[in-house]
Amino acid sequence: MKSFSIIINNKIKKFNKSLSVPGDKSISHRFFLIASQAIGESIATGVLESEDILSTINALKKFGVKIIKKKNKYIVFGNGLNSFKIKKNLSILCNNAGTLARLLPGLLVNYPVNVSLLGDKSLSRRPMSRIIEPLKKFGMYFSPKNKKKLPLKITGSEMPIPITHDHKSGSSQVKSCLMNASILTPGISLIKEYKKSRNHHEIMLKYAGADINIKKIKKYNCIFIRGQKNFRGFNLKIGGDISSAAFLIGLTLATDNSKIIVKNLNINPTRTGIITIFKKMNANIKIKNTKTVCGEKIGDLIVESSNLKNINCPKYLVPYAIDEFPIILLLAGISSGVATIKNIGELNKKESPRLNIMNKILNQIGVKTIIKKDSIKIFGNPNLKKGELKGKYKISSYMKDHRITMVSCIAALVLGGSWNIKNAESVTTSFPSFYKLISKIGGKFEIK
Ligand code: S3P
Repeated sequence: MKSFSIIINNKIKKFNKSLSVPGDKSISHRFFLIASQAIGESIATGVLESEDILSTINALKKFGVKIIKKKNKYIVFGNGLNSFKIKKNLSILCNNAGTLARLLPGLLVNYPVNVSLLGDKSLSRRPMSRIIEPLKKFGMYFSPKNKKKLPLKITGSEMPIPITHDHKSGSSQVKSCLMNASILTPGISLIKEYKKSRNHHEIMLKYAGADINIKKIKKYNCIFIRGQKNFRGFNLKIGGDISSAAFLIGLTLATDNSKIIVKNLNINPTRTGIITIFKKMNANIKIKNTKTVCGEKIGDLIVESSNLKNINCPKYLVPYAIDEFPIILLLAGISSGVATIKNIGELNKKESPRLNIMNKILNQIGVKTIIKKDSIKIFGNPNLKKGELKGKYKISSYMKDHRITMVSCIAALVLGGSWNIKNAESVTTSFPSFYKLISKIGGKFEIK
């Protein structure tokens, strides 16, 4: 895709709009991956059409899975478990998609052939040991032996063995990868989840009819999966992505006399950490019309301008809002009081080192911070909300991180000043209609 910059020189005026955001990225990835293992057709509406999801579709096609689009529906023609056709020396390009790179290897657990996994510059610096170590317990092999990042060669096992795994990191990608390996491994695998994270994989496997059982024990969830049990194709309706809505929520909270309604949003409680955090900060956010669709909670979000006060963010909320921290940190920077966020080091392992970069952006706009390896303290300056920032702000490419691009646009629209945001095409990773929606609510920008 051709590279461009976004130039913003004007603060946004008050707005009052109703809109919807594209489908959830985590669920869209999982639809294609899980449907590829089902017997028969699976049909989804509301699929996110972004670069990351295209990478997943293209990867599965390389394993011989037929996927087509008909009107607004995606159809996956699954042939059941063990049906991947793997050509010699197959290479899979994951591009920027961390979820694909971490979830796909699980689906290769019982194929004793070599598959190479590659990523772009950003993905090639992200840790893979988190899935390598537990997948080795199933009998998988990775080479080069001591390498912990992409590119990697992966080899499955002729006879994978079920595992019992203590999962303590709070990564949903790791948990989902192990569930993928478990559905293909004969016998019962057990994943003990100590720190809860997004649970879309469990919900979709259950909805599709896979043999999965979850027991809640005081300190952890026990996820039991009996492998080599086929399940049928399924129909799925995917709600909007709260990680995309997050930027519009932040913009509304920080712009005086404004309101948005985000319709048909996925509000799975393992994803609404941002709402809980903003509400604790005094945000005026309401949820209406809640219903359960295909096992997932959906609703409309009503957000109005609010005077936010900073808080100590409870640790348990961090995994429930992990992708939303760029916008949460920006809002902390323009709210009254001091924000303390601990156990947030994982943010530096995302598409770019987001904690360090947000710290830099906050300092650039004049917000004082104290940053440590695993925490940040932000001394909020609510005067910045007046939008009287002067001067020029250049936002570098930062590994073409889509969420850094979007949070920078929101900063520019709220704070004033002259902003030049590089590699602004990166939004296509997760939220291709971002600029269209910003324009719809009255944001002015130039593409250069
Ligand atoms: C995701 C899980 C999160 C999140 C990522 C998507 C998923 O990563 O940051 O954008 O779809 O499972 P971790 O599992 O590494 O926390």
